[in-house]
Amino acid sequence: MPPALANEISANGMSGERRGFLKSTFLAAAALATGPSLAASAQQAVGDSMILEPRPWSTKLGYPVAFKPYGQPSPFEANLQRRQSPGLTQTTQASVSFAPLQGFFGIITPSGLHFERHHQGWVDVDPEQHRLMVNGMVEEAKVYTMDDLMRLPSVSRIHFIECGANTGMEWGNAAVPTVQYTHGMLSCCEFTGVPLKVLLDDCGADIKNARFVLAEGNDGSSMTRTISMESALDDVLVAWGMNGEMLRPENGYPLRLVVPGVQGVSWVKWLRRIEVGDKPWNSKDEASHYVDMMPDGIHRQYTSIQECKSVITSPSGGQALMGKGFYNVSGLAWSGRGQIKQVDVSFDGGRNWKTARLETPVLDKCLTRFNIDWVWDGSPVILQSRATDSTGFVQPRYRQLREVRGTRSTYHNNAIQSWQVAQSGEVFNVQMD
Ligand code: MTE
Repeated sequence: MPPALANEISANGMSGERRGFLKSTFLAAAALATGPSLAASAQQAVGDSMILEPRPWSTKLGYPVAFKPYGQPSPFEANLQRRQSPGLTQTTQASVSFAPLQGFFGIITPSGLHFERHHQGWVDVDPEQHRLMVNGMVEEAKVYTMDDLMRLPSVSRIHFIECGANTGMEWGNAAVPTVQYTHGMLSCCEFTGVPLKVLLDDCGADIKNARFVLAEGNDGSSMTRTISMESALDDVLVAWGMNGEMLRPENGYPLRLVVPGVQGVSWVKWLRRIEVGDKPWNSKDEASHYVDMMPDGIHRQYTSIQECKSVITSPSGGQALMGKGFYNVSGLAWSGRGQIKQVDVSFDGGRNWKTARLETPVLDKCLTRFNIDWVWDGSPVILQSRATDSTGFVQPRYRQLREVRGTRSTYHNNAIQSWQVAQSGEVFNVQMD
C-alpha cells in the first residue's frame, strides 16, 4: 500500500472508496484465510450488531510492526496481575506476590506473572559483573563468568516451583478469598541451564565423601540453602533461561538454581556460590525458617519435597457462574516426587469422585492441567480436586493432614481445597474436614 494512503486510512478511517480499493487487493487472500465455515456461522448471528456492524478497529489501519519492540498483553487483560496480600508482611521487600492462577491456561506461567518471593527485595544484577564460584570439597575451586557458563552443554526442562509457604495461611481455617492467594506461590516455566553435575565434575567434586552442596545468593538476604548431593547429581540446574529468554530480574537474573520438586526457597536466585561439603550447613533459613512445627512441639527441619497437590482454578473463589448449564472445570496438579497419575473431582464435597482428563504434556515434577465436564443444575455445591502421583501418594483431606501435622505449621500444606458454589453462582473458599 502506498505510504500516503496508509497514513490517510490511519488518520481518517476507511471510506467506501478506500474499502473498494483494498477489497480488490485482498479478496483472494481473505477467502483463503477464512474458509467456508465462517459464512455458515455468520448467518446464525442474525441481529447481533457486534457481527453485523463494522467495529471501529476494522475500519482503519492497525499499529505498525515493532510498534512495541517487546510485546505486551492486551490492555483488556490488565486485571490479570500478580498481587500482594495486604498486611501479610511488614515490608514490601521481604514479601511475596501471588500469581493469578485463575487466569492461566495450560501449564506454563507467563514470565511477567511468575510469583515473587524475596527476603530483601529484588536486584538488577549486571551479568558482566556476575560470577559463580564452586568451592569446598573439590579438587580445584573455580570462578565462572556468565560467558563461561553459557558455553557449557545446556538443557531445557519444564518444572513447577512452589514456595513451601504456599497455602500456609489456610492451616487453621479458610482465610483468603481467591485461588491467587490460597495457591498463587506456584509457577511453572521452561528453565534452561547447565546441569549442576557438569560443574561439580569440572571442579573435581569429591562426590564419594561429600554429601551436600550449599547454594548462596548474591542479594542482601544472605540466602543460603543446603541441597543433598543426590539431588545435585540428579536434576538440579544452574539456570539462566526462563520461558525461552533470560531470567527476569525478579526471578534471579542472570543465574538461579533450579531444584525440581523441592520447595522454592532452595531455588537460590542471583546464585553466586556452590560449596561442596559433608554435612548440612544449618543456615538461618534452615534453622529458624522453613521448618515444620509438628504436633509434639518439635520443629521438623529440612523438609524439602513439595508433596502431591492439586487445586481447581476455574471456577474458584471470587468468581461467579453465569447461570445453570455446561462448564469446563479446570485445574492444576503437581508432585515433587514425580508425575501426576490421576486427578479426581468431587461435585458434592467429597462423597463421590469422577476422574478428570489429564491434558498433555504430563511431565515429572511439573504442573499438569486437568479438565472435566460439568453441568450445573443451579443448586449449591462444593467442588474439590484430589491428585494421585506416580508413587501412589494420594493428596490428603484436611483431617488426614492434621492428624499427622497438627495445626501449628506454616509450611507444606497440600490438603484438598474446597470451593463452594452458592445458588447465586458466586464461588467461596470453604474448608471441609
Ligand atoms: N534466593 C535469594 N537469593 N533471595 C531470596 O529472597 N527467595 C527464595 C528463593 N530464592 C530467595 C531466593 C524463596 S523463599 C522462594 S519461594 C523462591 O526463591 C521464589 O522464587 P521466585 O521469586 O522466582 O518466585
